Amino acid sequence: MAESVWPSPVQTRITGLFGIRYPIIQAGMVWAAGSRLAVAVSEAGGLGMIGGGSMKPDLLRAQIRKAKVATANPFAVNIPLARPDAGDLVRVVIEEQVRIVFTSSGHPVRFTGDLKKEGCTVVHVIAAVKHARKAADAGCDAVVAEGFEAGGHNGVDEITTLALVPQVADAVSLPILAAGGIADGRGLAAALALGSDGVQVGTRFAATVESSAHENFKQAVVRAGDGDTVLTLKKLAPVRMIRTPFALKALQAERDGATREELESLLGRGREMMGIFEGNIEEGEFEAGQSSGLVRKILPAGEVVRRMMEEYRAVVQSLP
Ligand SMILES: Cc1cc2nc3c(=O)[nH]c(=O)nc-3n(C[C@H](O)[C@H](O)[C@H](O)COP(=O)(O)O)c2cc1C
Repeated sequence: MAESVWPSPVQTRITGLFGIRYPIIQAGMVWAAGSRLAVAVSEAGGLGMIGGGSMKPDLLRAQIRKAKVATANPFAVNIPLARPDAGDLVRVVIEEQVRIVFTSSGHPVRFTGDLKKEGCTVVHVIAAVKHARKAADAGCDAVVAEGFEAGGHNGVDEITTLALVPQVADAVSLPILAAGGIADGRGLAAALALGSDGVQVGTRFAATVESSAHENFKQAVVRAGDGDTVLTLKKLAPVRMIRTPFALKALQAERDGATREELESLLGRGREMMGIFEGNIEEGEFEAGQSSGLVRKILPAGEVVRRMMEEYRAVVQSLP
């Protein structure tokens, strides 16, 4: 990585914890974050992450092995704890000696001890202060504080990133990654000002060249404006997605007072794959955040990292 082309490193508690050059973490996203995306981000000096949430244990193992061959830089794996076979995915990351694991959507006490015993750095995703405290008590090394602007599954309390991050910073002494609504260097500068030590970015990386999301999905993110995502399925687990025909159907059902069972039946199975991976705009879930409005072009992921750092420098220098 030539110094003349790449912005100089920025050090925070997060870059120190992971051994990376820039405090930019690419979110582990179902159907979008395979080894190709993770490697591109890690090679660019951020932390790439394989999204284990849409992978069977054997596929996750194969993806980890591919990433290890392709980069000597650190990378992470995300394991959503709501998955019934989360324990099998945890076994794979331990056997494959993955050094950094991000857990989400579940109680951090479940696997943090096992992972830490094996020498893993464990980060847990939270959306409220009380959950940050639980992650600290469970022995996690850092937390992702994810606001309700974020694409994909959301917390139930609907706290914005702007309000959540400083409150988490006041409540726990762990390093914090801000997530939700961050897609450029302005967002990174703001997140650091709020008391975070770096950012986890989803939507922006889901619409990059190396993302395994379908072209229809990437184009939908590029087309979307600030108001083109909705938070729906609140009685199940709230999900932020682009205002597609399926999203509108789910919203209408909620307005009509659909019960949990009725929403479950409307959701059915495989909507995330149908939307993000297969690009089915009628029936699929196009999970993306409010930051879609900031995504104007499908770029290589490394270029996203480089631009974010350049913008960050320019923003910090321009502050009064
Ligand atoms: C397409 C997509 C899939 C996602 N899948 C996951 C997932 O499997 N596990 C998880 O913890 N978060 C997931 N998320 C949330 C991200 O990890 C991240 O926290 C979020 O995207 C940050 O907000 P942003 O979209 O505004 O950048 C997903 C987000 C998107 C856009």
